[in-house]
Amino acid sequence: MSNSAPPSDVFDSHKKLEKNVTLLAAGTLAVVAIGGIVEIAPLFWLDNTIEKVEGMRPYTPLEQAGRDIYIREGCYTCHSQMIRPFRDEVERYGHYSLAAESMYDHPFQWGSKRTGPDLARVGGRYSDEWHVQHLKAPRSVVPESIMPGYSFLAETPLKVPDPSATLTALRRVGVPYSDIDIAMAGKDLMAQANPDLDAGDLTTRYPKAQIRDYDGDPKRVTEMDALVAYLQMLGTLVDVNSAAAQEQLAQEAGR
Ligand code: HEC
Repeated sequence: MSNSAPPSDVFDSHKKLEKNVTLLAAGTLAVVAIGGIVEIAPLFWLDNTIEKVEGMRPYTPLEQAGRDIYIREGCYTCHSQMIRPFRDEVERYGHYSLAAESMYDHPFQWGSKRTGPDLARVGGRYSDEWHVQHLKAPRSVVPESIMPGYSFLAETPLKVPDPSATLTALRRVGVPYSDIDIAMAGKDLMAQANPDLDAGDLTTRYPKAQIRDYDGDPKRVTEMDALVAYLQMLGTLVDVNSAAAQEQLAQEAGR
């Protein structure tokens, strides 16, 4: 017998394990549990698994209302909001999505179904007028489009039953709205879409918030205002190129 062969009692105990279903199940469970604990336990001691990036902020009440309409109307059934780190995606849509860009989305809108294009960086790509026209009658601007029209949004006054409650609920799941943000939610909601109202310190609390009439009807604040405000904000908060540069620098420093 060669020296490297294992002693026969190892074979004997393994035989026992293989022949006894209960023992084998218990043993398998123990081994899988160790693997599971090694992967899961560290998460309980980490404050955050998402790298912070400069510029990401909670959504304004108007953007949040637009986001709620986006979800209500099922836009996510045709549109994703996550650019994958592949050359064809990056060339078409821009810098790939960073985890932090959806850190205040509850629930996130990454999606996997793309009947239409990804919308993660659609903000600023078109004018407000283009969006309004496209949402009202998609085929009037993109003749081959199969997107449904949503002209009723421009006729529906924006009604958020309790804007402060929306922000409070989001704060409970970790979105860092301040007490002032919550107290001002109702005013902020209307002021962002109506330049005649006093927006106060809205842009200090929400940097890069765009204050203007979005739907071409300055007299009223409609669901169209909220949805277009949301679309025009998407992908504009984080300066992805500088974030990418930082990421790369950090990686290189760690090497
Ligand atoms: C049935 C699938 C479908 C649904 C639902 C849908 N879309 Fe689209 N969307 C498309 C398709 C297809 C295109 C590409 C053709 C076009 O531009 O109309 C598109 C294009 C777009 C574009 C232009 C993107 C770009 O980069 O050119 C925007 C913005 C958009 N959709 C927003 C929305 C919003 C907001 C909703 C919900 C209110 C919505 N879509 C619902 C299919 C859909």
